[in-house]
Amino acid sequence: MKGLILSGGAGTRLRPITHTSAKQLVPIANKPILFYGIEAMARAGIREIGIIVGSTREEIKTAVGDGSQFGVKVTYIPQEEPLGLAHCVLIADKFLGDDDFIMYLGDNMLEQGLEEFVTEFETARASSDKDKPAAQILLCHVEDPRQFGVAEVDKNGHVVRLVEKPKDPPSDLALVGVYLFDKTINKAVRSIKPSPRGELEITDAIQWLVDNKFSVRHKVLQGWWIDTGKKDPLLECNRLVLDAMKTKLEGTVDAVSEIQGRVTIEAGAKVTNSRIRGPVVIGAGAVIEDSYIGPYTSLGKNCRVVKSEMDHSVVLDGSSIVGVSRLTDSLIGKDVEVIRSTQQPRALRLMLGDDSKVELE
Ligand code: G1P
Repeated sequence: MKGLILSGGAGTRLRPITHTSAKQLVPIANKPILFYGIEAMARAGIREIGIIVGSTREEIKTAVGDGSQFGVKVTYIPQEEPLGLAHCVLIADKFLGDDDFIMYLGDNMLEQGLEEFVTEFETARASSDKDKPAAQILLCHVEDPRQFGVAEVDKNGHVVRLVEKPKDPPSDLALVGVYLFDKTINKAVRSIKPSPRGELEITDAIQWLVDNKFSVRHKVLQGWWIDTGKKDPLLECNRLVLDAMKTKLEGTVDAVSEIQGRVTIEAGAKVTNSRIRGPVVIGAGAVIEDSYIGPYTSLGKNCRVVKSEMDHSVVLDGSSIVGVSRLTDSLIGKDVEVIRSTQQPRALRLMLGDDSKVELE
């Protein structure tokens, strides 16, 4: 059996953090996320791994090399545009040949190893059973299935339907980014059409297998599963909480300031010459002057935002943002100062803690 790892490009979610920086190389416990997948494959006895590389190919190649550090042989397969997970199978055809393979989304992390899944699939494939599986998927019970591919399984344990990001999910079983296939999938990926997001979805290719009476098995994951490719869970959670929030104005707002939508301004907070567009929460004692605070922003207690514009961010207590023209999608810790300085020479002066990230314009 071969392995196929999607390290970048691929689809919307596997895009890099920045143009040349691979999310899959962000370290978790001092080891790049991508390495966990390669090691899991190596432990499951996979020796030949194809890695789909997009715009971050150089970075990935430098880190992974020829695979010998993992005891595997790596073949790089460039994908020029992120046209979807099924598109990766399509362009890997030369590498895959007619072999069975395990496909792994490079930013998924699983607690459970892959050995059991690989052995089971190999055993089932080697049997003389005419109902041999053409695919085996991994499923996991999740709280919000709408952000994943979702499977519907009948009473007898057969996968009967798969839908990508359903508005009205048929179950809470999300498709984990680890799939086992035989060569039939090559035909499936050539038979489907791009989804509304313009990608060839692997979910649709598996549905094609089901529709064409190929057997698709499933396993429900036991341990944890982290899809590190999803948006920052904290910002996401912030958004959900703010969406459900009610208006509450306890602080003071001067006559020239404008408050739109659902906004909470806690006691002792002061808004002067500013525009706040909800949902937004401004903590007790915060000071907002000559600024714009846009949707999905949470400012902690005693924060100061002066001559700045920001949205979709979480700022913890006691932090100051001064003279920053556009701050978005940010997570700022306690007592942090983000200030525009007038000091010469003009330069960036940073003091950043562990796991910090600064994106400059
Ligand atoms: C992809 C798949 C989806 C699956 C998910 C798992 O989603 O399309 O079916 O549940 O990976 O990580 P994406 O994050 O690319 O939208």
